[in-house]
Amino acid sequence: MPFPVHRPRRIRLSENFRRMVRETHLAVDNLIYPMFVVPGQGIKRPIQSMPGINHFSVDLLLEELKKVCELKIPGILLFGIPQKKDDFGSESYDPEGIVQQAIRAIKSRFPDLLVITDICMCEYTAHGHCGIIKNGQVDNDRTLEFLAKIAVSHAEAGADMLAPSDMMDGRVSAIRKALDERGYSHIPIMSYAAKYASSFYGPFRQAAESTPQFGDRRGYQMDVANAEEALRECALDLEEGADIIMVKPALGYLDIIYRVKSKFSVPVAAYNVSGEYAMIKAAAGNGWIDETRVMMETLISIKRAGADIILTYFAKEAAFALRQSLLP
Ligand code: PBG
Repeated sequence: MPFPVHRPRRIRLSENFRRMVRETHLAVDNLIYPMFVVPGQGIKRPIQSMPGINHFSVDLLLEELKKVCELKIPGILLFGIPQKKDDFGSESYDPEGIVQQAIRAIKSRFPDLLVITDICMCEYTAHGHCGIIKNGQVDNDRTLEFLAKIAVSHAEAGADMLAPSDMMDGRVSAIRKALDERGYSHIPIMSYAAKYASSFYGPFRQAAESTPQFGDRRGYQMDVANAEEALRECALDLEEGADIIMVKPALGYLDIIYRVKSKFSVPVAAYNVSGEYAMIKAAAGNGWIDETRVMMETLISIKRAGADIILTYFAKEAAFALRQSLLP
């Protein structure tokens, strides 16, 4: 029976009612904080298009991690910017590469913090593509050998989980096989399973200096218009041994997160990417929106769509806001 018997507002009228019937809860447990490490010492260099996010040298990264741990953020996603880029991204699998050094330093200082590493070549190649180039195209199968080498070098350095973001076909099985053969069968893979060829990665590419020098990534990342294909990508990655599957970006792709979570009973991660972060920061910087509220609304929306885990540059601020709301 409709109105006036039913009045949905009755259980909306006070904060305690709203709390009692709330369906989705965001917790710091769900957050992963992406961070950028660079060679050198004493470096904390702001990334212009991502206010609040910096390039850190290992020493100052460790300082920053004190705060991250204090906020009880369970893990970070580590990206490295190498000293030198070349056609084969050689620093990406160098045991003395920047990410490998950072992993060792972090794990010896903060053994419980989950160190997740991005497995890709675009930060390390001079051409800015996510793999090895042959005849003007990324050579899929050749790239797999390199991705496996990178993965093993991160595992050797002590990474807790590996996150391949290159979108080559077969990378999850190539990485799984290489890890298993070397005694790392316990290390999980969080694959960027449905990663779209999105323009929302702009600020990140500025941060990682990884903009392709020719062409674009549409030959390997997914067409933004496709949804069924995301389900096929996820199914393949799970068959190949992925433990957690990721949808990226998040905000324009809530339908994909929902579909993926409905179809597969595995943990689903969503990446609230650099452009999504930059838009909120820019609007808030102009005084046009309330930054904390828009941030929390964004993160709750991603969770409500079905994400178990959210990778976000807002992790510290969200953890802080969540903690505040627990206080009387
Ligand atoms: C590396 C990688 C990218 C991002 C995460 N891993 C860039 C890209 O694919 O161009 C984007 C992250 C962000 O925008 O926050 N391949």
